[in-house]
Amino acid sequence: MVAKYKIVGPSQINGEVYISGSKNTALPILAATLLTNDECIIRNVPKVNDITTMIEVLTALGVRTEWIDHNTLKTKVENEDICEISYDLMKTMRASICVLGPLVAKRRKAKISIPGGCVIGVRPIDLHVKGLQELCANIDIEEGYLICNAEDLKGKEIDMLGPKGSTVTGTENIVMSAVLADGETIIKNAAIEPEVTHLLQLLVKMGAQITGIGTRTIKIQGVKKLYGTEYVIPPDRIEAGTFIVLGLIANGKITINNINENHIENILQPLADANASIKIGNNYLYIEGKQKLKPIHIQTSPYPGFPTDMNPLFCVLMTQIEGESTLIDTVFPDRFLYTAELIRMGAKIKKENNTITVNGPTPFSSANVMCSDIRSGAAMVLASCIAEGEACIDRIYHIERGYENFHIKLKNLGIKIDRIN
Ligand code: EPU
Repeated sequence: MVAKYKIVGPSQINGEVYISGSKNTALPILAATLLTNDECIIRNVPKVNDITTMIEVLTALGVRTEWIDHNTLKTKVENEDICEISYDLMKTMRASICVLGPLVAKRRKAKISIPGGCVIGVRPIDLHVKGLQELCANIDIEEGYLICNAEDLKGKEIDMLGPKGSTVTGTENIVMSAVLADGETIIKNAAIEPEVTHLLQLLVKMGAQITGIGTRTIKIQGVKKLYGTEYVIPPDRIEAGTFIVLGLIANGKITINNINENHIENILQPLADANASIKIGNNYLYIEGKQKLKPIHIQTSPYPGFPTDMNPLFCVLMTQIEGESTLIDTVFPDRFLYTAELIRMGAKIKKENNTITVNGPTPFSSANVMCSDIRSGAAMVLASCIAEGEACIDRIYHIERGYENFHIKLKNLGIKIDRIN
């Protein structure tokens, strides 16, 4: 049986929540442990299903992994003979592509199933492939697989800018290949998301020579070998954003602990512009809802712009604001499938191309709804928390790919939520 959430709303919230480690930082960092034969210790890894899948990927590639305490994972490469990621592992999690760069760099070959599109849109990997080819990797496509061979990897100037901005996992893959290449690689238009910056900091701790961290131009001087290290995964900025939205739409009070204020500045600023009152403390936020906000007009863009992952969550927020708000998604222009479910709950949303117009405020009425991806799943839950009646949220495996103990954290805040099988 597939698990579901049952939520009885509307609930009053009261209490504290602790933000877990960032999934999208942990995934490439775990992939990077393939670059050394030494032991690595990664702390504050969220126990979510995408991490379980990454552990399966690493295990298939000859890595021994062990949870040494609740959120600390130890890794050690034991066998470097296998370089293949099957279609089954790739279809479970697109981010399995993060092992491509490390495999090409360390094992000099990789056979990886090409990921397809997904519900948030077409998701090409042309920039990953172009970057590897520029580093002299030989790449063929056979039966849906990328076959990469790289006898000699040579540093080069590589541009990571695509039609929708710089690619996050593409930048990560090229950096992870270049650290063990001969000579200097200069990456132009690198993605500067905090997830990328943390990966670069980990690589430096492993012995990589990288300058320009946090800027659009990264210089990498290839080294012969990398070493084991320890790293602490930072808090998840999108999970923090999710609980901020909850705090603004639900009645009650919430303290959100373990946040990195710099990473969520792009979420807090538009809220401040809309007159949200959020107390920012040392490593925590405090929100007393439900707040009367001004309409929001926002456009997603790569960091430091407003994150596309907050699109469905801000849409829920907009449904509670009096007047007309708009959201344009320039990164994933088709990331609006979830709006059909919110409309079933009463939302007034119009979509045209990559733009939605939301008219509020909408008193939601609970419905049986389905999650279509991680973030839209969380949006369904938030909407149901403030809706009148009993809701059943289906396909919560999407949520559990990316949010650690989501229903338990919500229950602790006073939300009437149960996970049922
Ligand atoms: N793109 C290309 N060519 C490429 C790669 C990307 O044209 O070779 C385009 C994409 O189609 C998209 C844009 O560039 O329009 C940005 O895509 P990007 O490559 O940056 O996305 P990603 O690396 O595949 C990561 C996160 C996503 C997040 C996006 C955008 C991970 C594992 N995933 O994906 O997170 O939405 O960046 O910030 O880091 C999630 O956590 O639910 C999630 C989807």
